[in-house]
Amino acid sequence: MAFKTTKNFILGAIVAAASVTGIAYAAGGGVESDYKMEHPDWSFNGPFGKYDMVAAQRGYKVYREVCASCHSLKYVAFRHLGDKGAPFYLADFENPNDNPYVKNFAADWTIEDIDNETGDVIERPGITADYFPPIFPNDAAARASNGGAIPPDLSSMVKARNNGADYVYNLMLAYGSPIPKGVEITPGLHWNPVMDGGKIAMAAPLSEGLVDYDPVEINDHGELKTIAAPEATVEQMSHDLVQFLAWSADPKMEQRKSVGLMTLIYLIILSLLLFLSYKRVWRNVKH
Ligand code: HEC
Repeated sequence: MAFKTTKNFILGAIVAAASVTGIAYAAGGGVESDYKMEHPDWSFNGPFGKYDMVAAQRGYKVYREVCASCHSLKYVAFRHLGDKGAPFYLADFENPNDNPYVKNFAADWTIEDIDNETGDVIERPGITADYFPPIFPNDAAARASNGGAIPPDLSSMVKARNNGADYVYNLMLAYGSPIPKGVEITPGLHWNPVMDGGKIAMAAPLSEGLVDYDPVEINDHGELKTIAAPEATVEQMSHDLVQFLAWSADPKMEQRKSVGLMTLIYLIILSLLLFLSYKRVWRNVKH
């Protein structure tokens, strides 16, 4: 490539950099799209990262009111939501089984159970010890309701996909991007360039204002506060969902990071003490 002027050179460099960094997104399966992946600066990344629990509280609402009609959350028990370090922890209710949020969330679901006396299959309201129930009785029923595809469990989705937080976030936002020439979308499928191959059996689940966010939050100290609820834009709901699903995929992350930090501090102090005692023990020895 020969550049006649510096300006041309700079333009060329920008174009080259853009193609290297992949500003246009390849949807896999040889499909190219103009969709630009967003990479939000997630609060939980990095060695000191923490979940944004207030966002995760809103994310639960989006999950419950939107995604839960198709997707299960089978590795989460209701009581987990009220544990210390979980989105709905309340300082006044150390035991999550007493936490009113947790109790209400559980009671909001119907759980299939066996009657201890008769052995019959019965349905009862959920209790705090229950796990989130399956949405469909079996895979065949799930397929039948979803155009042949099974909605996967979301408990560990953020861990299950490469760069899962960005993936789930962008999967929500990428609906509606223009369908490239030559790509045919058959009925029951939807164009989504973030999905491998670009075609997905899930219709866009989010739309502007789909949920009414509550004007209440539980702050970092486990206390209830009245707040101005944010607008439920698609970006906001997707961000909140990712905070919630990142927590459900790795509920012990914050604990692990703080143990790691304490271990590091301990080792630094220990090394310092060892060094000082070494100096002292060998003080009178020439070397
Ligand atoms: C009407 C049912 C339905 C609703 C509601 C729904 N989904 Fe889905 N979802 C599906 C189906 C079906 C699939 C499987 C798609 C496929 O394999 O083509 C899927 C797949 C997914 C996947 C996996 C994509 C992949 O990489 O395989 C994620 C993540 C997801 N949904 C997130 C969500 C979230 C978050 C919500 C709520 C905002 C939601 N879904 C609401 C039906 C639904």
